[in-house]
This record gives sequence, C-alpha cells and structure tokens, in this order.
Amino acid sequence: MSDQDPARAQLADATTPLIRNAWYVVARADEITRAPLGRDVMETSLVLYRGEDGAPVALQNRCCHRSFPLAHGSLEGDGIRCGYHGLLYARDGRCIEIPMQDKIPPHLCLRAYPLVERGPFVWAWFGAADAADEDLLPHPAWLGAPDWDIYIGYLLINASYVHMHENLLDLSHLSFLHPKTFGTPEYARAPVELAIKGTDIQVWRRVECQLPDIYAVPLQWQGCRAERSSGSQFVAPGLHVNTGILRNLERAATADEALPTIRVAQLITPIDRTHLHYWFAGCRNFARGRPDIDDFMRSAQIKAFTEDQFAMEEIARMQRVDGHTPHTEMHIPTDAAGLAMRRHLRALAAREAL
Ligand code: FES
Ligand SMILES: [Fe+2]
Repeated sequence: MSDQDPARAQLADATTPLIRNAWYVVARADEITRAPLGRDVMETSLVLYRGEDGAPVALQNRCCHRSFPLAHGSLEGDGIRCGYHGLLYARDGRCIEIPMQDKIPPHLCLRAYPLVERGPFVWAWFGAADAADEDLLPHPAWLGAPDWDIYIGYLLINASYVHMHENLLDLSHLSFLHPKTFGTPEYARAPVELAIKGTDIQVWRRVECQLPDIYAVPLQWQGCRAERSSGSQFVAPGLHVNTGILRNLERAATADEALPTIRVAQLITPIDRTHLHYWFAGCRNFARGRPDIDDFMRSAQIKAFTEDQFAMEEIARMQRVDGHTPHTEMHIPTDAAGLAMRRHLRALAAREAL
C-alpha cells in the first residue's frame, strides 16, 4: 500500500488541521484568578482571567498594537491593560482606551472566546462564537461530582493529539510500555470487544490478573486474583475516557456493594498539531476521603503516563528525522478503534474546510 492509498488518506494524522468546532479544556478552574494567565491552545494564544463577577474571561492574548502578550498586563475592573503601551480592553475584547489618543477605531478589538466553567475545568470553544452550543460540551456528569473522589494531574506532550487518542484506544500496549506501572502480561492477548456506533468509539477488555499497585494498594488487594474490565472511549476531540471496573476473585462482594470503579477523564487540548496539553482527572468510588490515596494514585498515574509521553515523543521524533525515508505504517487488529477515530477526525476536518 502506498501513502497515496485513498483509505489511508481518510485517516487524520499529525498534519490534519485541528477541529475548531468543539469544546476543549483550557485550564483548571482554580488556575483562573484575578491575575492574567497566558495559555497557548488550538494554534491560538489566550489570556485568561476572572471578571469582577467571578466569571472566567478568555481573550486573544495578542495586543492589537504591537502584539505584546496581554498576559503581561494588568487587570482594571473587568478589563485588561496592555503592559507595553497601555491600551485598555473591555472583557468583550473591545479596545476602550488608547493613551495619548481620544478616538478609538471601532475595529480595534481582540477576539473573545466563549467559555463554560464546569466542575474542576474551564472549557473554550474555538469555532464561530454563534455556534458555541453548551449542549455539545462533552463534560461527563461524574467528573467533579461529590460521589466520586478525584485527583487531577497534567503533562505537556510534544506530539499530535491524534496520536494521543490512538494511544488511549489501543491498550494492548499496557503489557509492553507499562509493565511496571499499569500493565500486566495478560493484557496484550486479551480478547477485545469493539463497540463502534457512529462517532461513539469504545473498546473493552477483561483480564484476570494480580492488579498493579495503582489499584491494589488503595483496595488492599495486593497478591489477590482479580478481574479487571477496562474500557477506552473516544468521546470528542477534547475528551477521552478510560474506565476500570475491578472485582476481587478471592472475596465475594455483597449484593449491594458497588464494584470498585475508576474513571479517568483525559482532557486533551492541542496546542498545535504537534504539541498538546494533557490534563487527566481520576475519579474513583473506593478508598473515599483519603488525600493520601489521591496523592498515591496521582503519582502512580503520572509515572505511567510519562511512559506514554516518552513513546509518543519518540514516535514524533522518528517521523521528524526519518520523514523522507520510504515507510508505510501497517495496521494490526488492535488498531480498529483507533482507525475509526482517525477517520472520524479526518471527516470533521474536511467538513470544517468547506
Ligand atoms: S503592544 Fe500593547 S499597547 Fe503596544
Ligand atoms: Fe499508555
């Protein structure tokens, strides 16, 4: 097969334009304060802050005068003043004051981005503002809900967000990339249940194993045989969800006892086509009210996700330094969900290009 193969041309990759008509996390809610915060996302630089009413504001970070980042400026009421020559902007992006000049050209305006604050995160819309539909927000109800304990972590990854989604949809890599953190040897050969219904793309696996410490320690199941059901779901360009449902095979659960479950929201926001912000929020229904377990699981998860980061950055390096050598990536059966996701992203990009 050559790279001119039409089936291959329908797959998103690191060269595919980003999907702008979608919601993406731009910050943890507690990062946005009355001090301006600069954040590069979606091939755009934003300045984020809270207005006097406490609501978050996102404006283009690039001053209309000489492009100095407004994040280095200061807030005045609901507005922000540039720290270079002092232009003042209102929270809707309009320039409302130019020192030494009385008349303000009406077109002098920063772009303002629609935001939604929901639970622990703030999401922004990068398409046309009038198309920003809150009903399309992919925020799941359990994320930040009081009946789930939560820990949040973050990594900056120098790779394509398409590869990040693909990595998360093919968990056969747990046995090889994560043998000391997440994975157990059974994983790679476990049968895979694919559930692809339109744009809902899910993969499930069930293995019997001794759980890795990230789950065994909080549950005090070290050394026990357990069943581990794991699901990976592509939800939207900015969200992937992994679910783990755990059952101790040496101890019968009572009928009304909920199985220990962990849901990890992976909030994937491209910075550009080859860099991404990666927030992850682990939500569990066991070992509740234990900040020590939050810390333990967060650091175990960062250790494992740093292994993914290594793999994705090494793949990106191969594509960069070896890009002119003839090479055609082959697909194997565990790629089915990833290929469905890549076709979907490519179709979205094609629709946005019309
Ligand atoms: S660059 Fe902002 S006022 Fe000059
Ligand atoms: Fe991984």
